[in-house]
Amino acid sequence: MSADSKPLIVVSGATSKQGRSVATSLLESGRFRVRALTRNAGSSQARNLARMGAEIFAAPLEPGHQREFVQAFRSADGAFLMTPPVAPPSVDELPLGRQLADAAVEAGVGHIVFSALENVQERSSGTKYAPHFTDKALIADYIRTLPVAHTFVMLAFFYTNALEYYTPRIDGDTVLMPFYLPEDFRAPFVDPLTATGPAVLEVFSNPHAYLGASLPVIGDVISPGEMVDVFSHVTGLKAEYRSTYSREGLLAYFPELGENPLLVDEIIGMAEYAVEFGYYRDDRDTQWSRSIDSGALNWEKFLRATDWRGDHVSFGG
Ligand SMILES: NC(=O)c1ccc[n+]([C@@H]2O[C@H](COP(=O)([O-])OP(=O)(O)OC[C@H]3O[C@@H](n4cnc5c(N)ncnc54)[C@H](OP(=O)(O)O)[C@@H]3O)[C@@H](O)[C@H]2O)c1
Repeated sequence: MSADSKPLIVVSGATSKQGRSVATSLLESGRFRVRALTRNAGSSQARNLARMGAEIFAAPLEPGHQREFVQAFRSADGAFLMTPPVAPPSVDELPLGRQLADAAVEAGVGHIVFSALENVQERSSGTKYAPHFTDKALIADYIRTLPVAHTFVMLAFFYTNALEYYTPRIDGDTVLMPFYLPEDFRAPFVDPLTATGPAVLEVFSNPHAYLGASLPVIGDVISPGEMVDVFSHVTGLKAEYRSTYSREGLLAYFPELGENPLLVDEIIGMAEYAVEFGYYRDDRDTQWSRSIDSGALNWEKFLRATDWRGDHVSFGG
């Protein structure tokens, strides 16, 4: 296959954990070209992607840039769309997702893969507040109305949250590990940096098999208590679970969150939703991602692969 005859996939948020994984898997397969969208073409992550062979396209990732978005998607065969983390009270996620999808359609993209989540508002009959889930479901609903082939990947809770956002405290010789879920509640988790790419590569490699599908991407189904035990086993460090599955627990551990009460509501709403209604709808195929990706990392493999010992890690996105 000559370089120009390979399908071109545009990756939005290409320096994000998900986007980097997608761009890397597509490029390493040798079967796709990648156009990587970033706000900052000079960042080290963008330069890494360029070194791997990606075309770098500088574009903002916020609503109101339709002309740039259409330019970004010109002549592409497919698009991986993700929306960056948005904290309330911002309501940018839904218009951004819609505008990215509109632009991809206007530019003539053949297949959109969007990183979606479940509709918490609907599933909880309005009792749980988690707009960063619901808005992704609404973007997916919107994409379903567009004249374009589409597939949705739905990532589980990220393992990396513990490294990046909810970092443990060290108390003497013990690593205190805060979790926003109850100690014994088994939930789906995933490593976005290594799992997103294989899932999206599989979809773009066999697009007809996945038209209209919503595909969970999961590395492990495990409780926080089990995660702490595995962490101790792998690292040899003493570790204990700490509950942030309540407003008081969350603010005691992360007082800085008190500056944004709506964000606290959202974290609690998301956790209660997962516990009371299940992270995924019952009809989702929770085995799929592990069946197509033999390298999928469960929590133990993730710890061994990263050598993480409880410190704060920045992923440079
Ligand atoms: N954490 C979880 O457990 C979890 C689970 C499922 C889904 N999600 C969803 O995953 C998404 C985040 O994915 P990720 O963690 O892979 O992203 P990430 O690593 O945080 O990276 C976000 C990227 O988006 C770009 N960006 C553009 N505008 C931004 C803005 N205003 N703020 C921050 N970044 C911005 C940045 O790239 P440039 O600077 O290069 O433009 C950045 O690299 C969110 O929508 C979240 O809801 C999270």
